[in-house]
Amino acid sequence: LSDGPLKGRHVIVTSGPTHEPIDPVRYIANRSSGAQGTALAAALRDLGAQVSFVSGPASVPPPEGVRVIPVETAREMRDAVRAALPADAAVFAAAVADWHVENAADRKMKKDATGTPPALRFAENPDILAEVSQMGAGRPGLVVGFAAETHDVARFASEKRLRKGCDWIVANDVSPGTGIMGGSENAVTVIDAAGAESWERASKDAVARRLAARIAAHLNATPN
Ligand code: C5P
Repeated sequence: LSDGPLKGRHVIVTSGPTHEPIDPVRYIANRSSGAQGTALAAALRDLGAQVSFVSGPASVPPPEGVRVIPVETAREMRDAVRAALPADAAVFAAAVADWHVENAADRKMKKDATGTPPALRFAENPDILAEVSQMGAGRPGLVVGFAAETHDVARFASEKRLRKGCDWIVANDVSPGTGIMGGSENAVTVIDAAGAESWERASKDAVARRLAARIAAHLNATPN
């Protein structure tokens, strides 16, 4: 509904993994499905937001009724996020690769006669969440990051909030046995300047709706 509590608000959501090329036919990736980011974009849309959905190559289709900006690499994701600004809020749900291959080949790599495997050299990717959190003029009024931890979730996540400079961190426990990584449910702790709030385990859709409602309440409590 375009007349929901986020009517007239622009929200950027990043989602999915990134692919970092090794050569034109090979890449390095991670196991993110894009499920939580996709559910969140749909929930924000349902509250009336105009959503720019910057998505890496996810295994779930993007929601309808949002502006989809498909990207492949972290560097493309950063450029797409910058081009989508300004925004009232930005939510960084993507599992961005920390590194890209600095010596990626522009032609397919071949086995050589000596049998020597290629040596990949890695370079750090831009930290999109930190860059947007720390931009001066033009910073979205609300910047939300995600954190996947296996232990001491609240402590590591609140350290991450301060280090990145974002307003909220949505932290989840991805320990083996939780079934959260790649599953359909999530159990999150939302950390803001006031402290940590743990939500009971629920479907990723329900977590997305609750988070979208919290974003709407926050934006509507602060002047436009
Ligand atoms: O540092 P870490 O990867 O644990 O932080 C996770 C958060 O930072 C997520 O919100 C993720 O989308 C964001 N991030 C980013 N750009 C990166 C790495 C992480 O936006 N290069």
